[in-house]
Amino acid sequence: MNLLEVKDLAVQFATQDGTVYAVNGLSFALAKGQTLGIVGESGSGKSQTVLALMGLLARNGSASGQALYHGKNLLTLPAAELNQIRGNRMAMIFQDPMTSLNPYLTVERQMTEVLQLHKGQDRTSARAASIRMLDAVRIPEAAKRVDMYPHEFSGGMRQRVMIAMALLCEPEVLIADEPTTALDVTVQAQMLLLLRDLQQDFGTAIVLITHDLGVVAGLCDQVVVMYGGRVMEQGNAQQLFKSATHPYTRGLLQAVPRMDGSDAALLAIPGAPPNMARLPKGCPFSPRCAFADAQCHNTLAPLRALTGQAGASGHLRACHREVTLVQAIAPQEVAHV
Ligand SMILES: Nc1ncnc2c1ncn2[C@@H]1O[C@H](COP(=O)(O)OP(=O)(O)OP(=O)(O)O)[C@@H](O)[C@H]1O
Ligand SMILES: [Mg+2]
Repeated sequence: MNLLEVKDLAVQFATQDGTVYAVNGLSFALAKGQTLGIVGESGSGKSQTVLALMGLLARNGSASGQALYHGKNLLTLPAAELNQIRGNRMAMIFQDPMTSLNPYLTVERQMTEVLQLHKGQDRTSARAASIRMLDAVRIPEAAKRVDMYPHEFSGGMRQRVMIAMALLCEPEVLIADEPTTALDVTVQAQMLLLLRDLQQDFGTAIVLITHDLGVVAGLCDQVVVMYGGRVMEQGNAQQLFKSATHPYTRGLLQAVPRMDGSDAALLAIPGAPPNMARLPKGCPFSPRCAFADAQCHNTLAPLRALTGQAGASGHLRACHREVTLVQAIAPQEVAHV
């Protein structure tokens, strides 16, 4: 059974430059214990997607479509009901740890407050539970450190404290927005393994946002690849990594550092992400795409299931060019052009 079902989600912002269509037509379904990765370059709409689900869009933003959590649409839920779910049944780890930790309160106070509020626990048992959770995210000497302030922790530890806070109420859904970008590579790997262990222990469903396809490879069941506020390719993670069909996905894969000692060149996708207030009228990726022709520049490619077995298993892509044409050219060549 699906815990979270997002259907045709759109997020728009009213700005002086006109309307910014930050997210368009995004759909996915997430079952208990599953992980969905959302990948894409800066500004592609990853954070706004999940902020919309949590009812946390900026004032000039609005969301449409549906985000069904146990059949209730989060996008239209009254604030009181949403507050019951947020931080309790659904929790979020933010891109920047300091935005969700209060610098003026000890970690103990911040953690026990959550348990007192959502679980009605008394301070003593809430403190014990907080220490157990800090232990679970491998904060050394948790019983002592719980009384420290956020600034007394290193960046990596602060991220762990945030994860501990997010998991305190054993949420069914955990949304992690680039939980590791501020960390160095070895700590990043540790954190991701930690998330996976915690998921196994608690059966949490995770939405994991990252810039990096390499990071999701070992962790995610499904992947959504976004560009310019639209889904370029989506499907089962293993299949998508094995046989990416969209020029953008293939470009991203080429930009992932290889750990196998291969000397394949690491290539960046040429060009820069688009100005979201002035998207081209066709495919948003067309200005940077080696395969683009007039049709790509002029008309959006709808997100469609691939034909055959891949399509039946839910592999979707938004591209006018034939799959065989895109896959026939080595990713290096794609990225070079
Ligand atoms: N309040 C706002 N008003 C106008 N535009 C906004 C607002 N908030 C976000 N946007 C725009 O929405 C687009 C998507 O932003 P989003 O934060 O989802 O990007 P992202 O994929 O998370 O990028 P990053 O990897 O840098 O975090 C961006 O172009 C951003 O400028
Ligand atoms: Mg973001």
